[in-house]
Amino acid sequence: QWSAEAAARVIAEHSGVRGPLLPVLHALQEEFGYVDPAAVPLVAKALNLSRADVHGVLTFYSDFRTTPPGRRRVGVCRGEACQSVGGRSLAEHATSSLGIPMGGTTPDGGVSLDQVFCLGLCSVAPAVLVDGRGVGRVDAATFDGLVSS
Ligand code: FES
Repeated sequence: QWSAEAAARVIAEHSGVRGPLLPVLHALQEEFGYVDPAAVPLVAKALNLSRADVHGVLTFYSDFRTTPPGRRRVGVCRGEACQSVGGRSLAEHATSSLGIPMGGTTPDGGVSLDQVFCLGLCSVAPAVLVDGRGVGRVDAATFDGLVSS
C-alpha cells in the first residue's frame, strides 16, 4: 500500500548509490508495484533533482508503471524467440481481448498487462508471466484461461 512515509523510507534506503535515480524508482516499483506520481516530488527533493527530471525518467522507461497494477499481473514475452513462434499475435490477442494497451490495467483493476523480455522459456515459446510464474506454449485460448482463472 502506497504511503508517503513508506516511500520516503524506500527512497532513503536507495539514494546513497551513485546515479541513484533509476535504483530509487525501481525500488519504489518493487515495494508498491508501481511508482505513484505523488512520489515524484519526494524523490526530486531527496536526490536534489527537479520534478521535471524525475517525471521525465519515470515516463521515459516503459518498465515503470505509474498506476497500481491489477490483481492479476500478466506479462507477454516480446523476446526474439517468442516473437518468432506466435508471440507477436499473442501480444495482439492479449491487448484486444483485455481491451487495454501494454502497460495498462483493466478498468475493474482485475488484470494488468505488460511486455516482458525473455523469461528463459525460449524452448517452450511463446511464454507469458502470470503473477510471477512463467508459462510456456501459450496460445490465445490458454491465454484467456490463464487470465480468467
Ligand atoms: Fe520469450 Fe525467451 S524470448 S522466453
